[in-house]
Amino acid sequence: MPKLGVVIGSVREGRVGLPIAQWFIERARQHAKFEIQTVDLKTVDLPVFAERHHPRLQKYENDKQRAWSTVVAALDAFVFVTPEYNFSVSPALLNALDYLYVEWNYKPVAFVSYGGISGGLRAVQMAKQTVTALKMMPIAEAVAIPFVAQSIDREAGKFNATEQHERSAMVMLDELYRWAQALATLRTKN
Ligand SMILES: Cc1cc2nc3c(=O)[nH]c(=O)nc-3n(C[C@H](O)[C@H](O)[C@H](O)COP(=O)(O)O)c2cc1C
Repeated sequence: MPKLGVVIGSVREGRVGLPIAQWFIERARQHAKFEIQTVDLKTVDLPVFAERHHPRLQKYENDKQRAWSTVVAALDAFVFVTPEYNFSVSPALLNALDYLYVEWNYKPVAFVSYGGISGGLRAVQMAKQTVTALKMMPIAEAVAIPFVAQSIDREAGKFNATEQHERSAMVMLDELYRWAQALATLRTKN
């Protein structure tokens, strides 16, 4: 069973990314084709990237980078739960991507994005440019959540999904599963 990392891309106090990720993780468990791992960038807690060597060389000099490498290397596919900050990706997510190279290679990634009128789609477009530089395969099927504040029950700390979000999540997971299987063959060493 492929291992899916659901990455929470916001580390902000009071982030809505957490209840959205919790909702998605529940759906991914119901989908039942992946082994799910939550990857909370707030817990991973990477400092701003300032390493001596290009990550492609894997000459890691600090323990946080080594630990992050172990987490990402063990996963076969990703869902990035991403907010949109200033029409782009959160600095925490971009930073986490920059930290590694080989560990991301030939792995598919799908997006659950949220924001105002854009539903986070501008952030997704920016992220796609970066993930392809890491030889990841961003898939087209996605969950986009516009006007996110209206879907959050702050008291219950819960995201209220619409029918469309529910359907999109399952379609996206089906497609991600296909890519996860296909790309696994590219990662086998010759
Ligand atoms: C620094 C900053 C920049 C933002 N820029 C955008 C933006 O460009 N587009 C958008 O739709 N929402 C923007 N927002 C609003 C976010 O969509 C909203 O705050 C959301 O809750 C952020 O996700 P989070 O709570 O998981 O961090 C921005 C919020 C912050 C804090």
